[in-house]
Amino acid sequence: MKTSVVISGSGMFVPPHSITNDELVASYNDYADLTNAQHQAQIDAGTFQPIPHSSADFIEKASGIKSRYVFVKEGTLDIHRMRPDIPERNDDELSHQAEMAVAAAKDAMQAANKTAADIDVVIVSCAYTQRSYPAIAIEVQAALGIEGFGFDMLVACSAATFGMHRAYEMIKSHTAKTVLVINPELVSPQINYKDRDSHFIFGDVATAMILEDGAQADSEHVYDVLSTHAVTSYSNNIRSNFGYMSHATDAEPYGADKLFHQAGRKVFKEVCPMAAEHIETHLSRHDLTPDDVSKWFLHQANINMNTLICKKLLGRMATPTEAPIILDEFANTASAGSIIAFHQHQKNLQTNDYALICSFGAGYSIGSLVLQKR
Ligand SMILES: CC(C)(COP(=O)(O)OP(=O)(O)OC[C@H]1O[C@@H](n2cnc3c(N)ncnc32)[C@H](O)[C@@H]1OP(=O)(O)O)[C@@H](O)C(=O)NCCC(=O)NCCS
Repeated sequence: MKTSVVISGSGMFVPPHSITNDELVASYNDYADLTNAQHQAQIDAGTFQPIPHSSADFIEKASGIKSRYVFVKEGTLDIHRMRPDIPERNDDELSHQAEMAVAAAKDAMQAANKTAADIDVVIVSCAYTQRSYPAIAIEVQAALGIEGFGFDMLVACSAATFGMHRAYEMIKSHTAKTVLVINPELVSPQINYKDRDSHFIFGDVATAMILEDGAQADSEHVYDVLSTHAVTSYSNNIRSNFGYMSHATDAEPYGADKLFHQAGRKVFKEVCPMAAEHIETHLSRHDLTPDDVSKWFLHQANINMNTLICKKLLGRMATPTEAPIILDEFANTASAGSIIAFHQHQKNLQTNDYALICSFGAGYSIGSLVLQKR
């Protein structure tokens, strides 16, 4: 008999602090006013472009984002700092990202009726890891008392779906029976809070999923993973150049190009048709059409992107129940967005209903899983 792969539990960790658009914009505008005042002579001489104000109305209209959670709020709204003030931890302490990951993992393990002894592999897959090695996954593995092995993966906004693809393949090929995939998206340190175009985009969160051999799953909500589908296509339109090379290149290690930056309009235009085509192709493998899908757990970068993609697929607007939006509360949480949507909105799916998880983002990278509720 062929091995079936299921998702048997999901979990999340939500940081205790949040920042509304109004708070973020008030701080940004104070920063802009201060910077402009400091450069008044250059502005008068025409050698410095005054920094324009940001707007909470623009942010909500252009993206659908109203608020975001942050791991540390301190420092972020301080106009003399404009970045979180996160105390460094020493090597003996649990790292920040591992702390988020462990919390989300415990939630997912409980939902899937799993203990540490049941898990064979830990995959930490996210947009950034706070260090190169030892892997955050191995630190999490130790903190949870899991045997076997763990490794980190970086695939920007598609890290969660690509991580689940690896889990799916391991279970199918019998190298593991149960895999814990965690996405500790601690992205706030990579935001340029001085950049009006992008200061509002991201929030912090951690999500986790348990994938296992369907023959052993015994949790309350079980979803067969019918298949996975991934595609990448190189683009410089979303980029972050931060990395160890700064030590050798003499480049400014925290320069604007080292932080998240993008050509948002181009991304919007190029990624929406790619994502819609990707989804249709994936569904057609199972002789399914978009009308057969009860729930769309889509990447959460921009509400207008999701509306457009659903319209292309369905020929009409998707209802909020069909394609849940969580980015109003969480903002763009890199790869975790579609998993938060799944975690919070999967429970009213009925037996045999089809659902789709799909991410799209930097790379470009697009990943999807077709699910059917047991
Ligand atoms: C980022 C994004 C929300 C910007 O929305 P947009 O409608 O494309 O807005 P634009 O960047 O074209 O800017 C429109 C105008 O608003 C201005 N603007 C930008 N940020 C602003 C802000 N915070 N407040 C007020 N005005 C702002 C721009 O300067 C521009 O002014 P101009 O017309 O005078 O040049 C949108 O492009 C997007 O979501 N793209 C998808 C990519 C994405 O989300 N990637 C994340 C990684 S997966």
